[in-house]
Formats: sequence, C-alpha cells, structure tokens
Amino acid sequence: MLKILEEFDGKILPNVETERLNLRQRTIADAADIFTYASLPEVAYPAGFPPIEKIEDEVYYLEHVLPKSQAEQQLPSGYGIKLKGEDKMIGSVDFNHRHADDVLEIGYTLHPDYWGQGIVSEASAALIELGFTLLNLHKLELNCYDTNKQSQRVVEKLGFTLEARIRDRKDVQGNRCDDLRYGLLKSEWESAHG
Ligand SMILES: CC(C)(COP(=O)(O)OP(=O)(O)OC[C@H]1O[C@@H](n2cnc3c(N)ncnc32)[C@H](O)[C@@H]1OP(=O)(O)O)[C@@H](O)C(=O)NCCC(=O)NCCS
Repeated sequence: MLKILEEFDGKILPNVETERLNLRQRTIADAADIFTYASLPEVAYPAGFPPIEKIEDEVYYLEHVLPKSQAEQQLPSGYGIKLKGEDKMIGSVDFNHRHADDVLEIGYTLHPDYWGQGIVSEASAALIELGFTLLNLHKLELNCYDTNKQSQRVVEKLGFTLEARIRDRKDVQGNRCDDLRYGLLKSEWESAHG
C-alpha cells in the first residue's frame, strides 16, 4: 500500500507512507539519527562506504555531498525511513546512480536494531513503484557484494534478476569479492503487480 502525500514537483520525491513506514527526504536535522547507524561497520562496509566517524561528517554529506551528486547526475532525491508514529530516522532508500536517462540504481541501509522485519523491502518497493510510475523509468539496477546475503535476499524478494557477476573485485575494505549486478525492468514489475 503506497500513499503519496503531496504533489511531485519533478525533482524532490513526495513524502509517502506505506503500511508501516513514512518515507521522506533526509535533511541535516536527521544527521544525529543517521550517524547512529552509518557509523557502524556492519552497516557501512556492506553498503560500500567507510563508517562515518563524527556527526559533522554526516552533516557535511547531507548538506554538500549528497545534493552535489544528485544535481550532477540529475537524481531525484531519495528517502529516509521512519516507522509510523516514531520520529527517529532508522534508514535510507535512495536512487544513488544514474546509468541512463531512464535507468537508475537504488541503494539502501538500515539500523541493525530493525533488520529482518522486511522494512527495507517495504521501503524499496515504494521507491520502485515511484520510479516506474511517477518517474516513468524503464529499468532499475542494484549492485551488491556477493558477501552481502541479506541484500541479495532483499533484491530477490523485490523481483530483480541477477544479470552479472563481476569476479574478483575488492570491497571497500580491500577484501576480494565478486560484485553482483541486478536489474528489474518496468515490464517485469508491471507483470508482477497486475
Ligand atoms: C541489507 C539490509 C538493508 C536489509 O534490510 P532488512 O530490512 O533487514 O531486509 P529484509 O528484512 O526485508 O530482508 C532481509 C532478508 O535477508 C535474510 N537474511 C538475513 N541474514 C541472512 C543471511 N546471513 N543469509 C541469507 N539471508 C539472510 C532475512 O531472512 C530476510 O529474508 P526473508 O524475508 O526471506 O526472511 C540491511 O541488512 C542493512 O542495512 N545492511 C547493511 C547495509 C547494506 O548492506 N546495504 C545494502 C548494500 S547493497
């Protein structure tokens, strides 16, 4: 169940709600919440970035790095994840790369206290629906390390297909691992969602 709560202005994705979640644009007011999970090695390393060392770095990222990359790649903003009725931001689900005019990549992270409850799957399903309806994308992609079994399970549940295994790359810590490339076509998503 996806409920769109405001008009889409063509740039910033509208605030939405799903069965259990509120999704809305992350701002610097969320930096302290985001820091609690983005500073954890078990969140950061599998997601492909070094753990954030101080809140100021997260503020800088939200204020400068994220808007710059969104502007350069013409990416619509992504979301922070909140449980309905709670104020704390517990994760994110984003369009993090543009591969073509109608092909975007998604990425996600979640505070470990909330892992295994289907939260990122629910949030990603909403982002995917917006990608194929509001943004009229043709395809969504996702990359993950082959060591990241949770993320592989999430993309499989979302209906993505494994398209390539790029062998013997290195993860962000320098350990050898394969890179997995997943894709989901709009037509496949439409067939699955009637
Ligand atoms: C990946 C991540 C976002 C998943 O979020 P989540 O809300 O816990 O995901 P879900 O609950 O929807 O699904 C997780 C699935 O992985 C499964 N899982 C958990 N540990 C697993 C393991 N070691 N091996 C295989 N599957 C595993 C769960 O059982 C669940 O599948 P199920 O619904 O069939 O039972 C979260 O673990 C995270 O933030 N990890 C660190 C950051 C990251 O890896 N980001 C993605 C980069 S590509």
